Amino acid sequence: MSITVRAAAKINLHLGVGRARDDGFHPLDTVYQAIGIHDDLSLADAGDLTLTTLVADHIDPAVVPDGSDNIVLRAARLLAERSGRKPTGAFEVRKDIPVAGGMAGGSADAAAALVACDRLWGLGTPDDDLLAMAAELGSDIPFSLVGGTARGVGRGELVTPVDDRGAWWWVAVPAPVGLSTPVVYRHFDTMRPDAPEVPAPADALLAALASGEPVRLARALHNDLQEPAIDLRPELGELIALGEAEGALRGIVSGSGPTVVFLCDSAEGARETAASLAGAGHEVVLTATGPVAGAHVVA
Ligand code: C5P
Repeated sequence: MSITVRAAAKINLHLGVGRARDDGFHPLDTVYQAIGIHDDLSLADAGDLTLTTLVADHIDPAVVPDGSDNIVLRAARLLAERSGRKPTGAFEVRKDIPVAGGMAGGSADAAAALVACDRLWGLGTPDDDLLAMAAELGSDIPFSLVGGTARGVGRGELVTPVDDRGAWWWVAVPAPVGLSTPVVYRHFDTMRPDAPEVPAPADALLAALASGEPVRLARALHNDLQEPAIDLRPELGELIALGEAEGALRGIVSGSGPTVVFLCDSAEGARETAASLAGAGHEVVLTATGPVAGAHVVA
């Protein structure tokens, strides 16, 4: 028997970051959106636990993490341990989400692994237990389970769906070389020694989502990690300016970067912006709508 689970990339429409807590994590007030760039994870019955990764043409296979500390295998082991069984199965992950791109590709795979193991092993784990395990594995992973558009607080792991009346068009431009999330957070600490204890609230963004108006959403997009990401990679600032000059309503760094996403006013607007960016030499330019579903079984 085998099962396939699809999990989406995320972007942060609002990412308010506060001063680091005692445990080193930063308090967040964020609004996530799942967008239509997916990884597909299949799990087939097998005697032991294995993982094969296949990548889309736009991803360099050399940058994909493998080995036994892979987040997919860690997710499988955690669920097996909690449910008192042996972790078994052959995973095959097909990656389309940029690696180390600030789009939660690893988190999507971990969420998909939890869902796949739960179903293939016939566990019927309650949602709250899956969400708690997801939070143990990584701050973004509960959102990868939930999908749609949702607010995240705590270190990002406490997720509540929010009212989103839009069908938004995005153009995503990944960078050839990823950025390490901890490095970007550390750079935030250096650049923002005055960061508030309570992260910037998402009120304006939430109101814009409820309005369904792209121009309003564009104005409300906010990312406290954008400045440190651009300081580490100045070319990201140039890319944002280029996309905005080429018709996007607004460009913003996705999460800790280096992927830049552009909000466009329509499908046609997204196609035009994508074509202009590709014409300007950006090798990988992806177009996607959001919100889309969280990790779900497709076969
Ligand atoms: O939770 P996750 O494993 O995805 O976090 C990766 C790293 O990102 C953490 O080790 C930490 O350095 C940083 N991080 C943070 N504050 C958050 C989330 C992540 O400092 N709220």
